[in-house]
Amino acid sequence: MKILIIGGGNMGLTYAQSFLRSHITSKEEMMILEKSPERAELLAKKDIGTVYSEAELCLREADLVILAVKPQDAQELFAQLKPKTDPQQVFLSIMAGVQMDTIAHGLGIRKVIRAMPNLPAQLGQGMTVFTSSEEVTRIELVMVQNLLNTAGKTIYVSKESSIDAATAVSGSGPAYVFFFMHAMMEAARKLGFSTPESELLVTQTFLGAVELYLASNLSCQEWIQKVASKGGTTEAALQVFEQTGLHRAIGDGLQAAFNRAEELGR
Ligand SMILES: NC(=O)c1ccc[n+]([C@@H]2O[C@H](COP(=O)([O-])OP(=O)(O)OC[C@H]3O[C@@H](n4cnc5c(N)ncnc54)[C@H](OP(=O)(O)O)[C@@H]3O)[C@@H](O)[C@H]2O)c1
Repeated sequence: MKILIIGGGNMGLTYAQSFLRSHITSKEEMMILEKSPERAELLAKKDIGTVYSEAELCLREADLVILAVKPQDAQELFAQLKPKTDPQQVFLSIMAGVQMDTIAHGLGIRKVIRAMPNLPAQLGQGMTVFTSSEEVTRIELVMVQNLLNTAGKTIYVSKESSIDAATAVSGSGPAYVFFFMHAMMEAARKLGFSTPESELLVTQTFLGAVELYLASNLSCQEWIQKVASKGGTTEAALQVFEQTGLHRAIGDGLQAAFNRAEELGR
């Protein structure tokens, strides 16, 4: 199966490397179309497949085309590709907010898969939520899921609106985690720790807590109860979190992200 990745930026390169690392495809079957000459040169040096600057030279050959350009570049790309697409080709888009209908009409195709990955995909620890148009066959869907699995975990959803919901949770999610980590690191410094010490205290606490959660059947609430004894230090902090409305603010934040994803999609 010949794969063409359009846009060899952060995500395009991430996917090319994870497909090759997992041996799910070979360099000979991988093509990358990149418009920036400097970026194309860098990609060519990485030896991850053939790098092209013209769609005419590679689009027709591809069985699967991965759209990894920024959403604002989508319309220009569609206009450029439309005369050369084939309805048998499967298009996988990771562009945030660009709906499947827009992609199908823009490219004159029917087989569309839309996925929302997140940044930890760069380490093979990504979370990707994906959906597809009716015309994509089961075999094609499994093939694409296998490719996406090389960059982390995946969930298939049947409704496209769930992609916007996933954008609000796992797509933007790493930034929420960094926000919380940053606040804790700042607080640790105020309590007298050096910057490296604060980073170690916070990162190891996040890692340890997630590992603990994954290794058990306990809920977050149950784990909180295990850490927080009555009248103790943890409870003092949790009470302030509740009083200042932090819990509700997190829910409101995710809702705002979802609303914005829907708005951008329109
Ligand atoms: N980064 C993330 O965490 C993340 C998470 C989920 C989804 N996404 C989605 O992934 C997509 C790619 O994001 P990214 O961070 O990888 O962007 P990026 O680093 O800007 O990469 C996009 C690349 O595509 C090139 N390009 C633009 N138009 C092109 C065209 N017509 N033909 C060939 N190449 C073209 C760009 O070149 P120029 O720079 O010259 O324009 C750039 O090198 C976006 O749609 C984003 O919404 C990203």
